[in-house]
Amino acid sequence: MTVGFSREQLKKYAAAKRGEFEKVLGTLVEIPTVSVEPERRGEVHRGAEYAVQLLESCGASAALYETRGHPMVYGRFDRGKDLPTVTVYNHLDVQPAEGPDWRTPPFQFVKDGDRYLGRGTTDDKGPAITALFGARFAWENEVPVNIHFLWELEEEIGSPHFESTIREHAKEFSTDSVVVSDTVWVSRSRPAQPAGLRGLQGFRFELQTGQTDQHSGTAGGAARNPITEICQLISECVDGKTGRVKIPGFYKDAVPPTKKELEDLKKSGFTVSGFKKDHLYKTLRADDALEVMKRIWMMPTFEVHGIAGGYQGPGVKTIIPPKATAIVSCRLVPNMNPRKVVKLVTDFVKSKNPDVKVSAEHALPSYQGKTTGPYAEAIKSAIEFAFGREPVFVREGGSIGAVLSMEKVLKTPVFFLGLSLPEHGYHAPNENFDWGQAEGGMAAFAKYFQNVAVL
Ligand code: BES
Ligand code: MN
Ligand code: MN
Repeated sequence: MTVGFSREQLKKYAAAKRGEFEKVLGTLVEIPTVSVEPERRGEVHRGAEYAVQLLESCGASAALYETRGHPMVYGRFDRGKDLPTVTVYNHLDVQPAEGPDWRTPPFQFVKDGDRYLGRGTTDDKGPAITALFGARFAWENEVPVNIHFLWELEEEIGSPHFESTIREHAKEFSTDSVVVSDTVWVSRSRPAQPAGLRGLQGFRFELQTGQTDQHSGTAGGAARNPITEICQLISECVDGKTGRVKIPGFYKDAVPPTKKELEDLKKSGFTVSGFKKDHLYKTLRADDALEVMKRIWMMPTFEVHGIAGGYQGPGVKTIIPPKATAIVSCRLVPNMNPRKVVKLVTDFVKSKNPDVKVSAEHALPSYQGKTTGPYAEAIKSAIEFAFGREPVFVREGGSIGAVLSMEKVLKTPVFFLGLSLPEHGYHAPNENFDWGQAEGGMAAFAKYFQNVAVL
């Protein structure tokens, strides 16, 4: 009883809906749903309210679920109780956006030919709307499958209330499979089918050694300098040049890539020059392609995101600051336990500098997915149908807290159908998405739903 459709039909559908797609994406991008900024609470809520309206305007039923943090949105195209259900996961919250490097205002939607600019265009509002439009096509063409949407608004803060909320509504949210659209391809010509995600453990290191700024000519030499001490501490944790983590035992539990995974990497089409170009780097810590891939996808890291404290203005203000903070995180790979990493790092820091206060932030274990079986095949063939190319298997270097929770609570397999490209600038200034990925993405999702309907 399945209805077939051609790539041509989907091209027509996308072309006819392009104006609507841009209007919807524009509206969403212009609601600054920055989940980490407390003063944006109202905006995040407004984003969720708009999402409910949007789902309803597409013919789905939808509801907003309050959590102890930001809300969550659930939508559904229900075709029949006995038919399989696919749940699409996206997040509608975004990273902060500020700084002088934005060429257009981050929360203004700007269309530049086929490119769409603004915070959240690629992470993850563009893919969310693309999946919705693909689903609406499948719905209107009566593909025999139920399509549900789970849209989170706390992904960028580590999904603190996601698991408890879906547990509360586990019956209602029950599904046969989940497809997550929040990952990146190797390059425009190399779609990726991620086989896993790295985990993440965040930290803040804080050191206070005084009460106020003091003149470095009167106190300097005798006074402790918290910035200097924090810098020394960091250099004891990690080799700045190579990135090698120096904390004893850090790599002990990490599972190295298998032969098969390394073979997949070699076939992935990744190039160091392309990577440098997409991420605007002139030099890297390594120049060998396999080594770079291992570093970004398969090895744990210790990264400093920011150091705060002291004087930041023009000239040289000769003070000794009272306080310094470092914001740090470790990416984790399979078999590394976030809690063990917290203990390892905290004990190490305390042994080197007992006055440093360590607080652990979000903890996300790594994720290993399935690369074989009917759903993985369904994704592969959907991508081929839409983009004319087979996806390659890679692991993703980033983290999505909700993935493990959905697998655990909904007891369902999770797959990835990402649409972002490295050049789109995840978390970077001038973040963008493009019509090519949206148009192909709609076709890929429509086809995926059809593939799943006949499994
Ligand atoms: N979409 C990303 C996850 C991602 C990054 C997938 C790179 C594939 C490649 C997600 O929105 C994200 O940024 N997650 C954060 C989570 C953190 C803030 C708790 C991350 O990975 O840093
Ligand atoms: Mn994302
Ligand atoms: Mn993100």
